[in-house]
Amino acid sequence: MVTGMEAAEPIRPVEWTEEGLVIVDQTLLPGELRRRWLRSVEEVYAAIRRLEVRGAPAIGIAAAFGVVLGVDEAARGGRAGTGGGAAGGPERERFLRAVEAAADRLAKARPTAVNLFWALGRMRRRAHRAVLGGDDRRDGRGGWAAWRQALLEEALAILEEDRALCLAIGEHGAGLLEELGADAVLTHCNAGSLATAQYGTALAPVYVLAARGRRLRVYVDESRPLLQGARLTAWELERAGLPVTLIADSAAATVLARGWVQAVLVGADRVAANGDVANKVGTYPLAVLARRHGVPFFVALPSSTVDLETETGEGIPIEERGPEEVRTCAGQPVAPAGVEVFNPAFDVTPHELVTAFITERGVIRPPFAEGLRGLAGGAAAGRLHPS
Ligand code: MRU
Repeated sequence: MVTGMEAAEPIRPVEWTEEGLVIVDQTLLPGELRRRWLRSVEEVYAAIRRLEVRGAPAIGIAAAFGVVLGVDEAARGGRAGTGGGAAGGPERERFLRAVEAAADRLAKARPTAVNLFWALGRMRRRAHRAVLGGDDRRDGRGGWAAWRQALLEEALAILEEDRALCLAIGEHGAGLLEELGADAVLTHCNAGSLATAQYGTALAPVYVLAARGRRLRVYVDESRPLLQGARLTAWELERAGLPVTLIADSAAATVLARGWVQAVLVGADRVAANGDVANKVGTYPLAVLARRHGVPFFVALPSSTVDLETETGEGIPIEERGPEEVRTCAGQPVAPAGVEVFNPAFDVTPHELVTAFITERGVIRPPFAEGLRGLAGGAAAGRLHPS
């Protein structure tokens, strides 16, 4: 476990060190910045389920490293570690079984963010290429250590690519906000550095503009029930020295009606082929409000968040979480102990309410289907959904 102060550059919530996978435990923020190592598939699965690591891209990154931990466990004779250890056929099978077992388990951690399945699909395909022979000179040779190295390199590539493409999202979004002459935006939940490898999606344009000396004010919805806006977004923006105003979710209408923001900027957990957007519950009402007040509603996302296999938002599985998250607030009871609760973690914003998508390859305007197809063609190929 590591504790300590950080420099003020956007935080890296998921990292790989010589000792393994290390995450910032986001359930402890804003009170405590604590990192902890995850050493097994089960620990990564639990950390994703408990929202210690959260946000669509960060979940995918953590799961990719979880697959590496899975083959390490198998090598030590743990999970999926049955079968012969000799080189050749049996070892290949044992390696692939370990990869599949880890990926199957991690795919069950949370259902909505498609980045999880995208990353696991990439890891499965890399494992098969490594073991059976593919486009890398080392593929098909070298045995367990070489195959494991190929997997680790794939997970590191997913992490590094995310950093780069969030910066690209930031550049495109910064251009849009400059065109609008924006000096303030409204956001929901946390689609910042804590939700990605480092720079965030919805907050990336804010960080890019800040680096150019233009400090936008960010109005942040608390984002009940788990308060990702209050606990995480307000924390990371303050830490970066940026102006932030926290509001109760129900105050968003007032902020929009008073003309205090020139754009609403949110992230996404999954975007269907027609442009419908699953994101943190409370995003849909914000989009309705933005339309009512003539404020542009932008969704920032990497191509790995687009799910071309799901035609519309109706097909997106929406996670429902336990009742205690609503019956309590910050651990304190705020409702009768046994009251019935409905607790969807996400909602679906119809594409008609989206002004534009801000992606690593540029801005996509309506009609969205074609632009999203072009963006996600590569990312979606061979994606493996949980059974
Ligand atoms: O339940 P969470 O905290 O994982 O929900 C996160 C969100 O809804 C984010 O807005 C989304 O994952 C985009 S993160 C770049």
